[in-house]
Amino acid sequence: MATTPSTTALRREARRPARRVPAPETEPAAAEDASSIGEAREAAKGCRRCQLWRIATQTVFGEGPGNAEVVFVGEQPGDQEDLAGRPFVGPAGRMFDSILDDAAIDRRKVYVTNAVKHFKFEPRGKRRIHSKPNAGEVRACRWWLDKELDLIKPSLAVALGSTAAQSLLGKAVPVLKLRGGVIEREDGLRVFITIHPSLILRIREPADKDAERERFLKDMRKVKRLMAA
Ligand code: URA
Repeated sequence: MATTPSTTALRREARRPARRVPAPETEPAAAEDASSIGEAREAAKGCRRCQLWRIATQTVFGEGPGNAEVVFVGEQPGDQEDLAGRPFVGPAGRMFDSILDDAAIDRRKVYVTNAVKHFKFEPRGKRRIHSKPNAGEVRACRWWLDKELDLIKPSLAVALGSTAAQSLLGKAVPVLKLRGGVIEREDGLRVFITIHPSLILRIREPADKDAERERFLKDMRKVKRLMAA
């Protein structure tokens, strides 16, 4: 009977030096031909579009209905997402879930993904410290985000932070200035701009943290209204 590896075993495996496997020069044909999110997810398991596959445990593809009305886009999987193979299941994901709940958005009905689908980190002792993906990695992985958007055809995408906004809009934008607003892309997709929920986690002062949570909740309530529009 198959057994589920323990988190400790997964972490040990994740810390092993990367195997030297030559990268294929082209994407597997299945990726181009994928006609459903399930097929795209399978094809993305072998992605070699940038070098991050060498250090990450696995590709963390998006999750949610293939006909979702809204697609939420984060930056990249974190430590726990890398081990679980699912987006937004760690501390930022729990913060995100609780705020979606308060805004009456059912996570099971929306699609949640990331701009970059492999975890980028710096090893520090036994810990793996998040490292921001660079513009080349974001550009390389945009192929998959475009594929997800092509297949799902949402009416709204929500950029959670600057990396997601950069990927969705094809250029860096000032997130704090544009926060709470919608930018319409040439293809008609509306992109709602907000912060990344991990920002709330990083605030130490309780009053400031609560205020930032409230601001993010206000943004999610706007998203809820836009979903209906
Ligand atoms: N942060 C992200 O941007 N995505 C995740 O999946 C988890 C944390």
